[in-house]
Parts: sequence; C-alpha cells; structure tokens
Amino acid sequence: MNRLDPGSVPKFTLAGGEQVPVIGMGTFGNDRFSPGQVADAVKGAALCGYRFFDCAAAYQNEAEIGLALEDAMKTGGIRREELFVSSKVWNDMHGRGDVLIALAKSLKDLRLDYLDGYMVHWPFPNYHPPGCARDWRSPASRPFLIDEFMETWRQMERLVDAGLVRHIGVSNMTLPKLRALLPRCRIRPAFNEVELHPGFQQQELFEYCRRERILLIGFCPLGSPTRPARDRLPDDVSVMEMPAVREIAARHGVHPALICIKWAVRRGHMPIPFSVYEAEYESNLRCVTEDPLTDGEFEALTRADTGRRIIKAFNFLWPGAESWENLWDTGGEIDLTGWEQPAGGSPS
Ligand SMILES: NC(=O)c1ccc[n+]([C@@H]2O[C@H](COP(=O)([O-])OP(=O)(O)OC[C@H]3O[C@@H](n4cnc5c(N)ncnc54)[C@H](OP(=O)(O)O)[C@@H]3O)[C@@H](O)[C@H]2O)c1
Repeated sequence: MNRLDPGSVPKFTLAGGEQVPVIGMGTFGNDRFSPGQVADAVKGAALCGYRFFDCAAAYQNEAEIGLALEDAMKTGGIRREELFVSSKVWNDMHGRGDVLIALAKSLKDLRLDYLDGYMVHWPFPNYHPPGCARDWRSPASRPFLIDEFMETWRQMERLVDAGLVRHIGVSNMTLPKLRALLPRCRIRPAFNEVELHPGFQQQELFEYCRRERILLIGFCPLGSPTRPARDRLPDDVSVMEMPAVREIAARHGVHPALICIKWAVRRGHMPIPFSVYEAEYESNLRCVTEDPLTDGEFEALTRADTGRRIIKAFNFLWPGAESWENLWDTGGEIDLTGWEQPAGGSPS
C-alpha cells in the first residue's frame, strides 16, 4: 500500500477555526458493495492517509465501519483525535426525542464516544425503504417546513451542548432553505453536504456558503457513474465523459476522476469520492497533493457546468407535489407546491 502523510494533505478551515482535510472518503456502498467491502476500504483508506469519513445510518454499514476504524487505529497507530468521523440522522428520526436515539445508535455502531460531524441527512422527514423503486411514495411525506425542521435542529444543537458531537451540519439544503435556517440557529451548521461536480456546480449556493463560512461538502464528486438504474434518467450528465474533463485529464495523463477531485479542491469545496478499490482511493487522495490544475484549466471546467442535477430524490415527493424539481426550490423560494397541511396539525 502507498501511504501518504496526512500532514501533506491540504486543509480547509471550518468557521470555528478547526482544520479539516480537503478530501474525505465516501462510504455509501449503495446496491453494489456489501458493508464488509466498504469497511475494508475504510480501513485501507485510513491506513493510506485519509482522515475524514462521511458515514450515515442510512448506508447500513456503520457497525462494520466502526470495527474497521478501530482496527485501523490499533494497527496504524492512528489516534482518535486525528480522525474526523461524520454521520447523519436519517429521515425517520427527525421527531421529538428521536435525534439523540439515532446518534446513540451511530455512536454504538461506529464504536465511538463522540462524533466529529453530525448532519441532518435530508431537510424533510420523508421516509422511503432502502432500494425502493423511483415511483415509490409515502403518503406521510411532507415538504420542508421550517418550524418542524427547527425541532430537529434544536435537538442537533443539544448534542453539541452535551459534548456528543463536535460540529453539526445539514445536507441537501438549498439556498432558500438555508436562508430560513441561519437566522434561527443558536449553533450554525458547520457544513452543508450537497451534490457538486463539474457538471453541477451550484455556484450561487457555493458563494452563499462561502460568505456564511459554511463548508460545502460535495457528494457524487465523480458523477456517481455506477449508481443503480433506478437513480438514472436518459439525459443525465456523465461527468467523467464531459469533453472538458476528458481533455484536461489527457493533458495531465490521469483518469478523469482525478480532474474532478482537483477541480473541487481548487474551488474550495470538499469532495468525498467513494471507491472500494485501493488503487482508486489511493490515487484520489494523492491527487490533491500534486500536479494542480492551471488557472485556464480551472476556468474551462467552471465554464463546463451543465446545471443538471444527477440525484433527483424522487422518493421524497409529498402528496400534491408535481415534479422532483419541487424538492430543490428551483423557483428561488421554499417550494410548497400542492401542500395542504393535514387537519390536526403536524406530527412531531
Ligand atoms: N448526503 C447525501 O445525501 C449523499 C448522497 C449521495 C452520496 N453521498 C456521499 O457521497 C459519496 C460519494 O458519492 P457516490 O459514491 O455516489 O459517487 P462518486 O464518488 O461520484 O462515484 C463513485 C464511483 O466512482 C468510481 N471511482 C472512484 N474513484 C475512481 C478513480 N480514481 N478512477 C475511476 N473511477 C473511480 C467508482 O466506480 P467503480 O466502483 O466502478 O470503480 C465508484 O463507485 C457517497 O459514498 C456518500 O458518502 C451523500
């Protein structure tokens, strides 16, 4: 194994002043990789020099990852304080009293007594069973309702007060939703994890987060080329096939994946590529330490934005919503299309 000194990996600075590596490791095996395969990759990645791990209860592999991290710490002489382990509360655990229970389960599974990061995975409590079809809908689904979300967020804040979590964050938050959240926070989100790659750059959100000192973490940084068929539409962008990405990769003599990663880091958001293959995750890490993009290459990639999202999240649509675009506030306001508050008020 080619090991890289974690000290040589550049860092981003969180609003509170803490430094984090500019790249993390994704851990969502989706339908393709078993929990054991992902855990082996996590151990390999830690030994190889990764220090940031993006986990989630919904990935159903935290127990295996916990064992892998413990093993890596023992065999690799890695201290707990050197790691940044992040997880996410799933949609069925937003209710009053649920967030602490969800965190306790992740802590137990990950074999840790605190987390470095904990995010609200989606901004609505809409549940869907793992692996369900694109047209599966829960009749209990709802849009983002700020008062409900604040009930969840207050519980997140209390996890920081209790010393169980060091930083809290959000995920899949749009600009209008963040604008509603920030003035109401006692403890602000340290990060927002959203889809980001050369084909979908979310420039307005990026600039807003930079101004507000919220680190953007980019998921599907390579365009998630091997995602399941149910998450694909015929006109989806193939990020590593984009001409700008391919041309620049050829010039550098590297795989297009590495160009996507270099672009993210140069821009100032953290990519969290996933791979179970040592050669891939090792080169993903190493590429942030060498052979940077030129200004011209960076600008060419920035111009290549298609504005097209890969992860649509169809399953989260609420009754009355018209299209997956309603989930993403494409009109610039929090989208409540077709929503009628059920009689009797909102469930907690
Ligand atoms: N917060 C959220 O809602 C959310 C949503 C989605 C994802 N995520 C997080 O983001 C992470 C990354 O997203 P993702 O896994 O969907 O997509 P991704 O990182 O864009 O793509 C992963 C795939 O790219 C290929 N790959 C990786 N490194 C490569 C390299 N050096 N050369 C060639 N191919 C390479 C691998 O394909 P092969 O396996 O075929 O080699 C791998 O399966 C997830 O694991 C998860 O942690 C978060």
